[in-house]
Amino acid sequence: MAIKQILTVPNPVLKQVSRSVEVVTDETRALMDDMLETMYDAPGIGLAAIQIGVPLRIIVMDLAETDATPEPKCFINPEILDDVEELRLWEEGCLSVPDFYEEVERPRRVKLRYLDYHGKEIVEWAEDMYATCIQHEMDHLNGVLFIDHLSRLKRQRAIKKVQKAEREAETDE
Ligand code: NI
Repeated sequence: MAIKQILTVPNPVLKQVSRSVEVVTDETRALMDDMLETMYDAPGIGLAAIQIGVPLRIIVMDLAETDATPEPKCFINPEILDDVEELRLWEEGCLSVPDFYEEVERPRRVKLRYLDYHGKEIVEWAEDMYATCIQHEMDHLNGVLFIDHLSRLKRQRAIKKVQKAEREAETDE
């Protein structure tokens, strides 16, 4: 396993549309292992493959409480089959937009279909935090970031903040 570099805005790779995984192999599982290690190291609760520069429709997530036993989940080729009208407002963040948080509204429940770590098909409803997180991550697969749901002004402010922090980190080295 290896910790990969997480791409940050405004890297154009993050705007790419990822392609479906055709067969789940040991190579796919090695990628998911790296993604989980990278996510835990960050630390974060969700990561899409494109965030480490791999344009495949793969997501990893762990919504367990900080000190609880880890509950890693992997999603290959996830699709939303259904959702509800009720919305949930949540202050989101993203490892590709470090230290920036804003509220985004998304459906409170979504019905998902995906392949798990072993390539087994799962159909289930996700709700609340799980629903918010999977919709955020699935946006990444289509080149959409949570800041794309905000006003242009807030989006530009977010990108400038990330760029400024990165410049300062470089100066410190
Ligand atoms: Ni994100």
